[in-house]
Amino acid sequence: MPPQVARSRVSECLPNRLGAGARMEVFPLVDEHTVLRVPRRTEQQLIDEFGSCGRKALATGHEVSISTERELHDLEAIESYIGAFVPDTTPFADLDLNGEFRYYSLQRRVTISADLRNVRSKMPAYHSRRSLERFIRDVRDMFDSLRILPDLAGPGNLVLDRFGLVKLIDINNFRRLVSNEELEGAIPDDETLTLLINGQRDLLPAGFIDDIGLPIADLSLAHLRNLEIRALGRAVNKIDADEFYRPLFHQRRQQVLATLKGDSV
Ligand SMILES: Nc1ncnc2c1ncn2[C@@H]1O[C@H](COP(=O)(O)OP(=O)(O)O)[C@@H](O)[C@H]1O
Ligand SMILES: [Mg+2]
Repeated sequence: MPPQVARSRVSECLPNRLGAGARMEVFPLVDEHTVLRVPRRTEQQLIDEFGSCGRKALATGHEVSISTERELHDLEAIESYIGAFVPDTTPFADLDLNGEFRYYSLQRRVTISADLRNVRSKMPAYHSRRSLERFIRDVRDMFDSLRILPDLAGPGNLVLDRFGLVKLIDINNFRRLVSNEELEGAIPDDETLTLLINGQRDLLPAGFIDDIGLPIADLSLAHLRNLEIRALGRAVNKIDADEFYRPLFHQRRQQVLATLKGDSV
């Protein structure tokens, strides 16, 4: 049975889908405090694309994909840095209604009062600004140690809850920021850039773009800069002098990002 049939059957059992992104469909549960996150792709589909990590789950011996294993690892690793901003999440392995293996999770439900992707001006509430300041500080600490950034690019990924506090909802797409040197190594001259412009995406360093072709870490870095400037009202010249944001001003990187932007238009 095709996966869309499996999905619609899940939707029949759990009406009023709360939200959906490129990877997840999210359903409310009866207790009202919890949501069920259903990955759009089965582990077998993920294994076909990315390979198996070799670990078996469930008594039936189903294998876990490399990408899910990375997500589970990241979820643990980020906890000590930004755990306070992430709704409690419990991943679990199970078979769907078609007997296909998926890695689900239960997550505390967040009542979303604002999507921080859409912030254009300084946030009026002091406690929300404080919460965002702390979030950005902790993300930067995490980046210093783990070199990964959360996916802040998607709609509804970073939100304010009903108390006006920051919550990172999308917890399954942490990405490494490729260094300028590595990017220059991969796209050293205009000739290579032309190949990239002509569609040769495999020239890019591993992990520069995610499975749907988005340069997540770069988009997240740009979004963090926006949040500091717009939502917190910090001075642009100070932010742009900050080492953390330096990659955004690297010329080759800007050319590569401009090329990739064309993909999503
Ligand atoms: N815990 C939650 N509480 C409330 N809404 C949620 C929750 N988790 C996800 N959602 C909704 O579902 C959408 C998709 O979830 P997300 O984790 O961003 O999936 P994807 O990885 O596919 O982008 C979110 O943008 C949000 O609107
Ligand atoms: Mg999302």
